[in-house]
Amino acid sequence: MELIPQIAEWASTRNFTSEEVDAEALTRILEAGRKAPSAKNRQPWRFIVVENESIRAQIEAAAFGQEHVGQAPVIIAACTTNVDYRMPNGQWSYPIDIAMAVSFMMLQAARENLGACVVTTFDEQEIKEILTVPYSMRVVMLLLVGHPAEKPFPTQRKPLKRIVSHNHW
Ligand SMILES: Cc1cc2nc3c(=O)[nH]c(=O)nc-3n(C[C@H](O)[C@H](O)[C@H](O)COP(=O)(O)O)c2cc1C
Repeated sequence: MELIPQIAEWASTRNFTSEEVDAEALTRILEAGRKAPSAKNRQPWRFIVVENESIRAQIEAAAFGQEHVGQAPVIIAACTTNVDYRMPNGQWSYPIDIAMAVSFMMLQAARENLGACVVTTFDEQEIKEILTVPYSMRVVMLLLVGHPAEKPFPTQRKPLKRIVSHNHW
């Protein structure tokens, strides 16, 4: 039994070529996000796809100048359409729901031989203004997508024995 290759070989891409992302591949990536699970199947998301160079440059500035942000030919701003739902465990559902959708999109991007990187280091207010996101909504994550300039190296993970226990903490 093998891991899914896109999981086994996962590594964030922070160096993109300027080659455009194929429109059908991009649609499949968004479709993967659409298929993600969410609490109570509320699907509280809106994905703003940004390919326009000047808007990407503005987003890069709002992401504290992280160069890979503007370099990526596609930025998907993963926004919430509902910030009100608290789950029975007391936790807010929207950051989790959005993270599920972004995870699905990242793996589909890898399946398309594209690179991807999650970015949360940004001034949310600035991004909202750039993308005209309504006042009451939130921009949870940016997902950068594009052709990797080189294959990124996988980074270390804690071994299973340090993160898994059985029956008790
Ligand atoms: C919630 C979250 C926020 C992240 N924010 C950023 C970010 O702002 N900028 C960035 O370059 N990478 C960001 N990353 C990517 C992580 O740094 C990266 O996933 C982690 O170092 C593990 O490396 P890998 O993805 O190559 O395996 C973020 C990842 C996650 C899951």
